[in-house]
Amino acid sequence: MFKTRITELLGIRYPLLQGGMAWITGWEMAAAVSNAGGLGTIASATMEAEELMSNIAQVREATGNPFAVNIPLRLPSSKKAMEIALQEEVPVIVSSAGDPALYAEKIRRRGIKVFQVVFSLNMVKRCNEVGVDGIIAMGIEGGGNVSPSELSTFVLVREVVEATDLPVVAAGGIADARGLVAALALGAEGVQMGTRLLATKEATLHGDYKHAIIRAKDTDTVVTGRTTGLQFRVLNNNLAKEILKMEKEGKGREEIDALTIGSLKKAAVAGDLEWGSLMMGQIAGMIHEIPSIQEIFDDMITGSIREIQRLQKYTEQRY
Ligand SMILES: Cc1cc2nc3c(=O)[nH]c(=O)nc-3n(C[C@H](O)[C@H](O)[C@H](O)COP(=O)(O)O)c2cc1C
Repeated sequence: MFKTRITELLGIRYPLLQGGMAWITGWEMAAAVSNAGGLGTIASATMEAEELMSNIAQVREATGNPFAVNIPLRLPSSKKAMEIALQEEVPVIVSSAGDPALYAEKIRRRGIKVFQVVFSLNMVKRCNEVGVDGIIAMGIEGGGNVSPSELSTFVLVREVVEATDLPVVAAGGIADARGLVAALALGAEGVQMGTRLLATKEATLHGDYKHAIIRAKDTDTVVTGRTTGLQFRVLNNNLAKEILKMEKEGKGREEIDALTIGSLKKAAVAGDLEWGSLMMGQIAGMIHEIPSIQEIFDDMITGSIREIQRLQKYTEQRY
């Protein structure tokens, strides 16, 4: 039993959310996560309208539990994705990479829960004003698109919790019971994970990508795109090295885009370990096996109870 405002609000057993991950998290993974007691998420970023509709229909067949659709607002496809998610009345919409004011009220009027991903305090003020249901605070440790502000999860979650009365979910660098307890100690009421859930039996990405996560050490990821404004934390492979070299040489966005467009698909679908973009977070260095999602969740929950008991010892009076 694990009860926070997040589990109550979302109607889930565990305060564990799966981050939307483009090219990877369709209905299969979302259903596996929701069936395991967390909140599974369909990533709409690279889906055509038909594909998104069919993913929503299939996740509904595969689980009776709540699920989310992730919509990165800066993408041109987001308007259509939002239209579909609203029309289908999905249980939860997680908007990222954009201003929640655009849709928050519309979403809530449909009785859909809306969570916004934030990278810094600026966006928290916006969330408070427009009225979202919850905030996902993601730090620079995380995999995929990361913040230009480069705030760490430790600092960001703490300050976001101070700046809002809304329930906060911590993301970036969380993969086990100790990570969950640390997030709760900072004031978060749930966690969102990406990298940890990629190295699982159910994850629908190329097996070689999963093994690259297992092999990665703590220092094996880098952030590319600091000069172009589109930052991604990825494995430091040939592609990442080439992007960083081009950035150093002052090459522009167009030239770099020519190299990177389609590169996540190359990694996730074709398993190209050197010229695909292997998005993953720093926590990959702590991931050493490929269990099932249910095993991860059960370990995190039972482990967190043990961790909380261990911490209590620090405050026991000894006479
Ligand atoms: C391969 C990959 C793809 C991602 N794609 C998206 C996306 O489409 N939309 C989004 O909001 N976040 C995306 N993210 C971020 C995740 O949803 C999540 O917040 C992040 O992975 C958490 O950090 P962690 O990897 O340390 O667990 C992606 C992350 C990864 C690793």
